[in-house]
Amino acid sequence: MCPRGQQQSLLHSAYMERLFNKRILLGVTGSIAAYKAAEVVRRLRDAGADVRVVMTRGATEFVTPMTFQALSGHPVNQELLDTEAEAGMGHIELARWADTILVAPASADFLARLAQGRADDLLSAICLASDVPLAMAPAMNGQMWQNAATQQNVRTLVARGVLMLGPDAGEQACGETGVGRLQAPEILLAGLAELFQSGVLSGKTVMVTAGPTREAIDAVRYLSNHSSGKMGFSVAQAAVEAGARVILVSGPVAMTPPDHLQCLSVVSAQEMIDTVLTHIHGVDIFIATAAVADYRPVKAATGKTKKKAERIQLELEPTPDILAEIKARFPRLFCVGFAAETEALDEYAQDKLLRKGVEMIAANWVGPAATETGGAFGSDSNALRLFWKDGSAELPVASKQKLARQLILQIAQLEEMWSQRSLDDDKVVTLPDSGRRPGR
Ligand code: PMT
Repeated sequence: MCPRGQQQSLLHSAYMERLFNKRILLGVTGSIAAYKAAEVVRRLRDAGADVRVVMTRGATEFVTPMTFQALSGHPVNQELLDTEAEAGMGHIELARWADTILVAPASADFLARLAQGRADDLLSAICLASDVPLAMAPAMNGQMWQNAATQQNVRTLVARGVLMLGPDAGEQACGETGVGRLQAPEILLAGLAELFQSGVLSGKTVMVTAGPTREAIDAVRYLSNHSSGKMGFSVAQAAVEAGARVILVSGPVAMTPPDHLQCLSVVSAQEMIDTVLTHIHGVDIFIATAAVADYRPVKAATGKTKKKAERIQLELEPTPDILAEIKARFPRLFCVGFAAETEALDEYAQDKLLRKGVEMIAANWVGPAATETGGAFGSDSNALRLFWKDGSAELPVASKQKLARQLILQIAQLEEMWSQRSLDDDKVVTLPDSGRRPGR
């Protein structure tokens, strides 16, 4: 058995990692426990989370917004109809921004209003406008918690998928002893961190390609594109969070790879395909997020080409199509491609689905056509349209991290049905060796 201190530090390091880089919207409502939310903000920041605080009017009776502003490093949002805030980060932006919403403390009144679907203050409007997981940390007098009305509201919220963290039992501010205390900050954070560990890919191995490739022209010049690796790294991170073993094959980017995965760095399309092939054995899902250069110079000069002629011609040849080749060699591997388009997004994406024979295409606008979706190349946000053989889905504008998590959920669902179908087919037909999954 682990000694208590050791158990706590294991819990601590697990949630610290999962909350790193996450965008947490903390709602503070009118309860005597509001002052304890300051410690929650501090610990979230220690874990590397980005925190925005929204206070109800009741909460400001107990603690000043200045406390939360100082601790979170951002102005505290309070009013639903605040012209300045709406021009900057209004309620819809905040709802979109968050990876998750934690209300701590959540008063009896707030739980009732949320259960009714009210939207007449900023915090309840954000909760209603958001599609991210909601977590409530109730804190109130024990009798209020036990009241049938509160219990009914809690049941309603839980049935809608809201996570209840607490309340805890013990001595209360009113002098009574019972259930109604705000959970201790480390328990709240551990519960919140669970939301980022879906486990939908546990037992699976996922390979993700990311970033651009560089195709040498000479010793100092190359052909490439604007991919930053953000989308691919987010997909890899989301797969780790979903419990998969992850191999990330990345072109040259300026990003630090996420923890808990194997990152292999490459430069050219040829190196990328060689590396993919070397490590593909045992992979269950292949996700090609990389912006692989389609062409490369037929011959790269060994030295620096001198500027002599008025014009020079560069002869190019196609690079290997990594996604198409992997799918052709391993038809039983679940493959997901991306499509980056400046026009006719749906048509080109569906064409790639058929031509490359993959199970799913995640399509995004790039270039001038992408102004509304964040630009895709190099930006922090994006939007995706997913296409598969007999379906499609729309993932609206969100941070690349959030989109990646939604994409991974969709991939996990589809892959499960697809492997089940393949198993059923196996019972009827024996496939030749080349048709098997790599390494299986
Ligand atoms: O890295 P970011 O700055 O975050 O930008 C993200 C992104 C825009 C690069 C990403 O979301 C994206 O769209 N990646 C795919 C870009 C691309 O090359 O698309 P494509 O339509 O040209 O290629 C179709 C698919 O074939 C892609 O899955 C690609 O990885 C794959 N491909 C393409 C060419 C090639 N030689 N080999 C390949 O495997």
